Amino acid sequence: MPNQTAKPIDLASVDHVLKTTRSVRQRLDLERAVPDSLINEALEIALQAPTGANTQTWRFMVVTDASLRAKIADYYRQGAERYVEGKTALTRTGVNMMRDYSAEDLRQQQKAALMKSGGFLMENLQRVPVFIIPCLESRFEQDDVFTQASMYGSILPATWSLMLALRARRVASAWTTLHLLYEREVGDLLGIPRDYTQAALLPVAWLKGGDLNPAQRLPASTLTFWNQWGTTRA
Ligand SMILES: Cc1cc2nc3c(=O)[nH]c(=O)nc-3n(C[C@H](O)[C@H](O)[C@H](O)COP(=O)(O)O)c2cc1C
Repeated sequence: MPNQTAKPIDLASVDHVLKTTRSVRQRLDLERAVPDSLINEALEIALQAPTGANTQTWRFMVVTDASLRAKIADYYRQGAERYVEGKTALTRTGVNMMRDYSAEDLRQQQKAALMKSGGFLMENLQRVPVFIIPCLESRFEQDDVFTQASMYGSILPATWSLMLALRARRVASAWTTLHLLYEREVGDLLGIPRDYTQAALLPVAWLKGGDLNPAQRLPASTLTFWNQWGTTRA
């Protein structure tokens, strides 16, 4: 629907949120409760994200119960151990923390900080006041790429929007997936029906300390190809 009285967009603020929504681990405030109203508000915004065929078959599990968080954190730790030992299928893909880059590569230089921060979350996950687990109706792990992309594409944009909406309210989170190595066990714990797929786990807490900074990333110009694979433009 066209909106005739379009609001001007404050680009500086929008870009700031987009550039500084980090995976926050060590600066999650483990002592301060996050109000349900803030979670609901951020979720309402996140639900502006697209879904394939407008099906909106998403569900969001918000876990605040301390004993449930402790049990989920145990599964997360078991998942992390399997991952670090190279015992997951992810090991053979490029998306792998154990992957080594050249000494000059930013990703190699950022690795020690990531290990430290990841280790902190692994040890303290149960202390984070809120977990949000985005879920989607159906199972599709045996299906073709079209189906998998359409299904994950119907839950991951909303998950990222949720992180952005929280961040804009000074509430931090981190994208995590390690508990999914025990997806069934965590699903049973929370009563998630077996025909739903969990997509992530966001530990959610107030941000401690000062503002967050943009990350250093590989430049878009080297990662973007024009018309033919491998053809870059400055
Ligand atoms: C698909 C995906 C899975 C991830 N899983 C985990 C995880 O299980 N645990 C964790 O601590 N971080 C996890 N991360 C966070 C990444 O480590 C993080 O995004 C990356 O190091 C870049 O840092 P930044 O998000 O602060 O920019 C995951 C990120 C993505 C996109």
